[in-house]
Amino acid sequence: MDARLGIDIGGSGIKGAPVDLVSGALAADRCRIPTPQPALVEPVSRILGRIVGSFSGVTGPIGCAFPGIVISDRIYSAANLDGSWIGVDAGARFSEACGRPVVMINDADAAGLAEARFGAAAGRSGVVLVLTLGTGIGSALLHDGRLVPNTELGHLELGGEVIEKRASNRARKVQKLSFGEWTERLNEVLAHLDRLLSPDLVVIGGGISKRFDTFGPHLRSRADLVPAALRNNAGIVGAALRAAESEAAQPTRANRR
Ligand code: BGC
Repeated sequence: MDARLGIDIGGSGIKGAPVDLVSGALAADRCRIPTPQPALVEPVSRILGRIVGSFSGVTGPIGCAFPGIVISDRIYSAANLDGSWIGVDAGARFSEACGRPVVMINDADAAGLAEARFGAAAGRSGVVLVLTLGTGIGSALLHDGRLVPNTELGHLELGGEVIEKRASNRARKVQKLSFGEWTERLNEVLAHLDRLLSPDLVVIGGGISKRFDTFGPHLRSRADLVPAALRNNAGIVGAALRAAESEAAQPTRANRR
């Protein structure tokens, strides 16, 4: 089986598992370790090393999803993690901690890639918008299956307020919103994003998507709107896809000549 290790760094847990690159299924039970608080670079790197060590049979580069802007493996924002990540070459730090190449990707982008390849957006052309509703709101924008990275739509402002502060799943919990109140806020967000991007399909992801039956019927969208298929594993699966992509992009000895 062709598998790569995917790791997803979240505000409360760091999860990893080998992913079968053909089916997108996890090839072993995932390992989850609570995110250290504060989530500083050194302790998080050590946890990555532990996760990689527990799947020592899985070869190749490792993909790692991170909840912030990622450009060429370096971190440019960390709204829901420690600010000391900004400017860090996470790919280099993690590669050192794991003794293996680690490539980075934004967590929502990873979810988007995974949903487009194996999940709710598989086989869909046109503009696909994946929103992950969790501590923040992550976004992935794809056109005909190709990702536009780091869109960060959860940081748009609507009515003078940052969207993710108003309509994330954390906002629902902290502000003790009923599902009805929360879905109304989500409807405002969906209408705004529709005006800006005119997606053909919107995929609603994040842990709360398992309760889509409760709130999904109250969402209004011009575009098709569906729950994510890979739920909370989408970050892990997309990170493994990113690892496989990075290998394919490596010049081989033959075409370097
Ligand atoms: C971050 C995004 C991330 C999202 C979900 C936001 O606060 O800025 O990069 O994708 O949270 O974790």
